[in-house]
Amino acid sequence: MSGVRIDGLVKQWGTFRAVDGVTFDAPEGTLTVLLGPSGCGKSTILRMIAGLETVDGGQVTIAGQDVTRQDAAKRGVSMVFQSYALFPHLDVRENILFGLKVRRVARDERDRRLADAARMVGLTDLLDRKPAALSGGQRQRVALARTIVANQPVCLMDEPLSNLDAKLRAEMRDEIHALQRALGLTMVYVTHDQTEAMSMADQVVLLKDGRIEQIGPPADLYERPATVFAAQFLGMPPMNVLPLADLDPAAAVPRVAPGAPDAGAGWSLGVRPEKVVLAPGGLAVEVAAVDYMGAETVLRLRHGPLALMARVDGRAEARPGDRVAVSWAAEDLHLFDDTGIRRSGPAAAPPKPG
Ligand SMILES: Nc1ncnc2c1ncn2[C@@H]1O[C@H](COP(=O)(O)OP(=O)(O)OP(=O)(O)O)[C@@H](O)[C@H]1O
Ligand SMILES: [Mg+2]
Repeated sequence: MSGVRIDGLVKQWGTFRAVDGVTFDAPEGTLTVLLGPSGCGKSTILRMIAGLETVDGGQVTIAGQDVTRQDAAKRGVSMVFQSYALFPHLDVRENILFGLKVRRVARDERDRRLADAARMVGLTDLLDRKPAALSGGQRQRVALARTIVANQPVCLMDEPLSNLDAKLRAEMRDEIHALQRALGLTMVYVTHDQTEAMSMADQVVLLKDGRIEQIGPPADLYERPATVFAAQFLGMPPMNVLPLADLDPAAAVPRVAPGAPDAGAGWSLGVRPEKVVLAPGGLAVEVAAVDYMGAETVLRLRHGPLALMARVDGRAEARPGDRVAVSWAAEDLHLFDDTGIRRSGPAAAPPKPG
């Protein structure tokens, strides 16, 4: 049993609460992604799980044991840091094996794990180099290899791919995911990259200002975002969120936002760009720009003061300056109240926690 649970976790710097009562379960053998904008508390939570940061409130449980005050070394976790701390005077091989030597793992076992890990992250030919002679991406892979050889049941990763180019990033993402499943690791993975979160996570914990905004499988967050923040954090381009009060009265709120209260009452409508269709009789818009990307085209549209986007397959006929109308199916419409909480739409989500 190697699940991780945190309960009402708090971290305070002076009067500032960087982590403000965070509770979630990372079940054994699953991958939990902590997602959120810079400064929302992701690294701080991870460091408290690892035992590298003191806890100001709440509890950390690993494998059923309360480890809140326990020494980091005794928690059975390995960690990849956001700033992959390598020893400059040791070569790649020694950097990877450092922890195993400290723990007196037998030499042939060490060599076997080293060979496996180095092959996995593509460092086999660089084992004799010092960190100064490596690129940022190669250093990051040394840090990853160090975690792989540690063989701990709980693995914590803090933006482990941030310094890699797009292609290597996608490859390493698959490798880490495959490794996590093959070894049955309990992994808590920090990123602010929604693609990583969507493609890897069994469960996403979306954070904002030290609190949980929404928690659930990626598809839940995408299809049934609890709030405007969640709706706009996931999705590329993000969900269109239009305050009903800013719509041209001629747009007739009941037509484009059926189910909204009269006159909007501070509510907004939300619709994903890929659900927006060009069709007569909808919301009148002007085409501001056409971004052709090959497989798809993103149309940047304006409705009075409001900007919105439509994503269509392939090449679109529209040109800047065109006046067209857009609409969406009733089942693709989300309605958010004046506090930003989603009140209706595809199977309205339960109220946000906390
Ligand atoms: N040692 C510290 N002293 C004071 N404030 C701190 C300290 N460490 C972190 N903070 C603050 O706590 C908040 C959370 O920081 P944290 O590093 O957890 O954010 P993050 O979500 O990992 O961000 P990023 O995506 O930029 O890495 C930030 O506002 C940060 O400035
Ligand atoms: Mg961080």
